[in-house]
Amino acid sequence: MIRTIEWRRGRVVMIDQRLLPEREVYRVYDDYRAVVRAIRDMVVRGAPAIGVAAAMGIALGARRLPARGFRVRFERMCQALLATRPTAVNLAWAVGRMRRVYREHPREAIVDLRARLEREALAIHDEDIAINRAIGRHGAPLLPDRGTILTYCNAGALATAGYGTALGVIRRARETGKQISVIACETRPFLQGSRLTAWELERDRIPCTLVTDNAVGHLMQQGAIDAVIVGTDRTAANGDVANKIGTYTLAALAARHRLPFYVAAPTSSIDLATARGADVPIEERSADEVTHVAGRRIAPRGVRALHPAFDVTPARLVTAIVTERGVARPPYRRALARLLGAEAPARRGRSSPS
Ligand code: MRU
Repeated sequence: MIRTIEWRRGRVVMIDQRLLPEREVYRVYDDYRAVVRAIRDMVVRGAPAIGVAAAMGIALGARRLPARGFRVRFERMCQALLATRPTAVNLAWAVGRMRRVYREHPREAIVDLRARLEREALAIHDEDIAINRAIGRHGAPLLPDRGTILTYCNAGALATAGYGTALGVIRRARETGKQISVIACETRPFLQGSRLTAWELERDRIPCTLVTDNAVGHLMQQGAIDAVIVGTDRTAANGDVANKIGTYTLAALAARHRLPFYVAAPTSSIDLATARGADVPIEERSADEVTHVAGRRIAPRGVRALHPAFDVTPARLVTAIVTERGVARPPYRRALARLLGAEAPARRGRSSPS
């Protein structure tokens, strides 16, 4: 299995995703501030993987914090990690779990607290793999026995602790004998599709064809795609799905061509406190990522460029949301609340963005 992120003898080891597919380089971290930079600079990316990295970063930082002033410094560390990437709710979810460990054991001896935080970070890591396998089990039956599945960005092993969410569903479908092949969109501007998804699928010998993002409408028109499956960074209580910029375009095209559009998500990516997609903070990344490819300028100097890194797909375009607890179908407000074991939040404000 691809080793995205690991805890090894008091250090965090991550594959540097910026260098794939050309180079497989593992970075070793022993300082939480370096983990903060690694998340911000996309050494590690993908909502669940970012959550695991943040939890391990906290466990790492706690090893160095002195007992005196621990509370204030612990909180400063949590804030630094939370500020790295705003859209993926898994980050806040994982930091929340680590904070709870401290809150519930405030007077524990520092060595015991450090050990407890380390165990929690490892649990978040290991649970994520089990969750992805469960998502795969729930999702695989939705895919046809034979066909071509389109995916976007990278919601695979590299975006998680292992196995993947959307790619987990595809992996499970293959494991159960389905004759599935994949179309991976390259996913401008960071190219997670071409650099990461294609790399993962090649390694697993899952047939994969790479296309430019703008080929999708044409391929759907040609009948070359049977279903779409993507991941999510945050799904709101009403089922609006925030995911990599360009996902909405795919969902609109899938609806136009009457193709199922599935979202695979751990329940930690579902944020019942966010009523609707319009409330999800959308990360704006540097325009340099648009004007440059692999460090090379591809636009005139001085041109204005925008780089919203995520968009929101309205719930009405989503056929089903596959979680580790089962499959949610519309109406999502009730279905998601039921899966999370919560009361359905009251309707509020505007409905889904259109
Ligand atoms: O900017 P990234 O690469 O972190 O964005 C990742 C995505 O958009 C994924 O689809 C999402 O995090 C789900 S990963 C299981």
